[in-house]
Amino acid sequence: MSDSTLPSSNESADGTPHRRRPRYAGRNPRRFDEKYKERDPLRDAETVAKVLASGKTPAGTHRPIMVTEMIAALMPRPGALVVDCTLGYGGHARELLAHLLPDGHLLGLDADPLELPKTEARLREAGFGPEAFTAVRTNFAGLPQALVTVSSLSSARSAANSDSLLMGADCILADLGVSSMQLDDPARGFSTKSDGPLDMRMNPRRGQSAAALLVRSSSESLAELFKTNADEPRARELAAVLAQRSFTTTRELTDAIRAASPETAKDEVDLTVRRVFQALRIAVNDEFSALNALLRSLPTCLNPGGRVAILTFHSGEDRRVKQAFAAGLRDGTYAEIARDVIRPTAEERHDNPRSSSAKLRWARRCS
Ligand SMILES: C[S@@+](CC[C@H](N)C(=O)[O-])C[C@H]1O[C@@H](n2cnc3c(N)ncnc32)[C@H](O)[C@@H]1O
Repeated sequence: MSDSTLPSSNESADGTPHRRRPRYAGRNPRRFDEKYKERDPLRDAETVAKVLASGKTPAGTHRPIMVTEMIAALMPRPGALVVDCTLGYGGHARELLAHLLPDGHLLGLDADPLELPKTEARLREAGFGPEAFTAVRTNFAGLPQALVTVSSLSSARSAANSDSLLMGADCILADLGVSSMQLDDPARGFSTKSDGPLDMRMNPRRGQSAAALLVRSSSESLAELFKTNADEPRARELAAVLAQRSFTTTRELTDAIRAASPETAKDEVDLTVRRVFQALRIAVNDEFSALNALLRSLPTCLNPGGRVAILTFHSGEDRRVKQAFAAGLRDGTYAEIARDVIRPTAEERHDNPRSSSAKLRWARRCS
C-alpha cells in the first residue's frame, strides 16, 4: 500500500530529489570529511568508543591531556574564578567547571574563531549558562584585558554589589599548541598527513599563512626559524631548498621536504616533516611572543595564593615556562613552583599517543 502524500524513496520531505551520502572506499574512512560517524558522538557512540580504544582521537573532537594532574596542580574550589586560556574542545574546561561550581566562573579564551563558537554552544548545551561560563575569542597574550571584560560583565550582573568585581583569577590554565580539531582538519593546513591549503593560522582571519611566510622568507631567516622553533638538525640545508618558494598545499610542501631528503630513512623524513610544520606553525601564530606575554602577565592576573598550570609540548615552550616560574620563585612573585616537570602516565601515553610529549608545570602566587 502506498501513501501518495509521503515522498517517494528517492525524494526528501520537501520534494527535492534525495541524494545518497557519498560512499567511501574500504571499511574504514580515512579522510577527515568522510568520518561522519565519529563526528556525531551522540548518534554513533559505538564508533567513537572503537576509535578511542584504538588510541586515536575521533574526528572533530579533542581528548584533554593530564586532567587529573592538572586538577591536582590548580586545586580549583567552589566559587573560584578560573581562566582556561586555551579552551579548545572544552575538555579541561568541563572538568574545571565541575570543581568551581556553585558560585564560581570559568573564563574560556581561544584564538580560533571557527572552533570557539562550537565549543561555547556545546558547553551551553551541557547546562553551563552565562553565570558559570564566559567565552572570549582572543589571543591569551590579551589575558589582562579579557579579565577586565569578565569583571565588568560580572559587575553589570550584580550591579547592587560592587564588591563582587572579579579582578584577579584564582586559577589559570594554558594547554599550549593546536587542538586535534585543528590538526586533523585538512582545510586548516596543519596536517602533515592529508592535503589541504598551506595555512596553519589558528585565526585564519588574521596574519599571514604558512604559504605566504615561506614565499617571503630568506634562506637565513628560515634556517633560524627551523632551528629555534623545532631544533631541526638540517635547518640550513632545508631552508636553502624551501625559502622563497611558492607552495599552495601541505602536500606540495611535504613532497619538497621528502625530495630534499633522498638518502634518509622514511621514519626520519617523517620526523623532519613534522619539525618543519611545527616550526612554521609557531612562526605563523607568533606562539613564543604570545607565551612570553602570558608568562609576564601572570603575576598581575593571579589573585594572591592563585595557581597557574601550563601544559607544553616541545622544548621551546617548556624552557620558557620553566625559566619564568624559576625567576618568579627567586624574586618572591611565586611562593611555590612544581619541583619537577610532571609527565603523563605510561597508561595515558599508551591510550592517547598525542599526550606523549606533554609536560606540565605549575606555580602558586605568594599570598
Ligand atoms: C591543545 S588545544 C586545547 C585543548 C583544550 N585544553 C581541551 O581540553 O579541549 C589548544 C587550543 O589553544 C588555542 N590557542 C593556542 N594558542 C593560543 C593563543 N596564543 N591564544 C589563544 N588561544 C590559543 C588553539 O586555538 C587551541 O584551540
